[in-house]
Amino acid sequence: LPSLSSEQGWVGTTLHLYQGFWVGPRHLKGVLACQRHFRAQDTDVLLVTTPKSGTTWLKAILFALLNRTKYSGSGSQGQHPLLNHNPHDLVPFLELKLYVEQDTPDLASLPPPRLFATHLPYQSLPQPVRDSKCKLVYLCRNPKDTCVSLWHFTNKLRPKERGENSLQESLDRFCRGVSLFGPYWDHVLGYHKASSETPEKVLFLKYEDMKEDPYANLRRLAGFLECPFSQEELREGMVDEILRLCSFDNLSGLEVNKSGKLASGEENKAFFRRGEVGDWVNYLSVDIAEKIDRVGEKKLHGSGLKL
Ligand code: A3P
Repeated sequence: LPSLSSEQGWVGTTLHLYQGFWVGPRHLKGVLACQRHFRAQDTDVLLVTTPKSGTTWLKAILFALLNRTKYSGSGSQGQHPLLNHNPHDLVPFLELKLYVEQDTPDLASLPPPRLFATHLPYQSLPQPVRDSKCKLVYLCRNPKDTCVSLWHFTNKLRPKERGENSLQESLDRFCRGVSLFGPYWDHVLGYHKASSETPEKVLFLKYEDMKEDPYANLRRLAGFLECPFSQEELREGMVDEILRLCSFDNLSGLEVNKSGKLASGEENKAFFRRGEVGDWVNYLSVDIAEKIDRVGEKKLHGSGLKL
C-alpha cells in the first residue's frame, strides 16, 4: 500500500484517506479485498449509502420487497426473518463484513437476486459492479441530520475512557470531509451523477422523500428493480404490509433489535435512535447549520441537487 494520509477518526481510531475517501484501519482490508475479488451478477442488487443515512431501514425494505412472495400468503415459509434478525444480519455489507471475514467469501452460490450493501463511493466500486447490469439503489439523507446521527452513533462506539466526541469538532471534521466514507458531498454527488447518466442502473433516493411518501417510493423502488407490485398485491395491501414491517416503531420495538448485537460487536439498538427528519435543530446552532449549508452549496453548485 502507498502511505496514506491519516486523521483522528470519530470513534478514536485512525481514518486513512484511500482513493479520496476516509476509511478505518479495520475496514481497509475489506475494501481492498472487495475491490479485487467481488464478481457482480446481472441480477445483483446493491444498496449504497453514506453511514447514518437510513441504511438499516432500506436494508429491511429491500429484503422484504425482494423476498415478499416467500413470507406472505398461502406459500409462506413461516415467520418473517426481519422479526428475529437485525437488517444488517440479512443484508451484509461487502467491505465491512463479507470481505473482512474472508478474502474471498463464497458468494457465487447464493441464490439470485443477491442483495448486498456497501458504503463505497461510486468511483471506488469494484469494476465488475459498474460493468454488469446489476442495480444500485442509493439512499442519501440531508447532511445536518446525517452528521448529528453520526455524532450520536460514534459516541456510542467510542471506548468509555475517551469520553464523548465534541459536537463542534465532529461538525468541523464533517465539513472538511473527514468522516467514514466521506467527504459526504462527494459521495452523494458521485451517485447523483451516475443516476442521471444511467437511470436504469442507479436509483437515487432521499431519506426525506421516503419518510414523506413511503408508499409511492416503495412502488418506485419495486418498478426500478423490475419486480413491480401486481394488481392483486396492491389490492391485498402488500405495500403497506412491507412498510409496517419495516417501520421505525416496529423494528426498534422487536426484541432482537432491543437486546441483540451484531457479530462485529455493535448493539442492534444503536441503529435506531429517533428516525425523524430535521432532528438536527435540537443540536446545531444557527451558525453551525449555516456553515454546513454553505459547504453544501459550494459542493453541489451546478449539479441540480438540493439536500
Ligand atoms: P437518527 O440517528 O437520526 O435517529 P443507518 O441505518 O444508515 O446507520 O442510519 C441510522 C439512522 O436511520 C438513525 O437516524 C436511525 O434512527 C434511522 N432509522 C433506523 N431505522 C429506521 C426506520 N425503520 N425508519 C426510519 N429511520 C430509521
